[in-house]
Amino acid sequence: MKLIKVKNYQELSKIGAELLIDELEKLKRPVIGLATGSTPEGLYSEIIKYHKKTNYSFKNVVSFNLDEYIGLPEDDINSYHYYMNDKLFNHIDLPLEQTYVPNGMAEDLEAECIRYEEEIKKTGGIDVQLLGLGVNGHIGFNEPGISFKSRTQVITLNESTRNANAHFFSSGGEVPKQAISMGIKSIMETNKIILLVSGKNKAYALSKFLAGEITEEFPATILHKHKDVTVIADEAALSYEK
Ligand code: GLP
Repeated sequence: MKLIKVKNYQELSKIGAELLIDELEKLKRPVIGLATGSTPEGLYSEIIKYHKKTNYSFKNVVSFNLDEYIGLPEDDINSYHYYMNDKLFNHIDLPLEQTYVPNGMAEDLEAECIRYEEEIKKTGGIDVQLLGLGVNGHIGFNEPGISFKSRTQVITLNESTRNANAHFFSSGGEVPKQAISMGIKSIMETNKIILLVSGKNKAYALSKFLAGEITEEFPATILHKHKDVTVIADEAALSYEK
């Protein structure tokens, strides 16, 4: 595992975007795994800037998002579909039919999870996966206690996760109780992982992750077993003192 220490959120976003773009430029038909939440917003802005400045085309890129809430339609302002369109897809030339986000409105959610895994498989797998870190150690929406063998599945969100995400729902609506998330095994099968960690509120979680004890009670710790993980963390996130 490689740890890149940066000063602040701006630097984290810039360096994260550069790393991701470097990977994309190496590949003919890159498959990227995308995350939502506050953390990658700056990185997405940097990618849009790069696209506008250089004309780098995303026409050959395929993307898979980590997760989506159950019960929110695509055009709901709080859905991750909406977030991705708003923060990235509407501003670059990545064809929408090459972007995958789990369908949280599917009638048969189990079938949707299987379909999602199959779509990933059909592409040959994810080349580079972006991740954020939940304050309770979750990655995607894989909450503490989840099996390291898990595949894409329906997750019941912890109260703490719903509270942490409540600020996104300021324009109305309750944080859904469930979500679909790519599983730990699905994440571990990706070729390269970039984990972004920013802010004082992540300092405890990051120190726990860096301490290295691998446990299903803190799902992110499985990443220590992945062959190619780069963690980019800012000073605030690295500021935990016992
Ligand atoms: C959310 C998302 C994750 C995200 C994490 C951290 O619940 N499902 O994909 O990485 O929690 O979010 P944030 O970046 O807003 O702190």
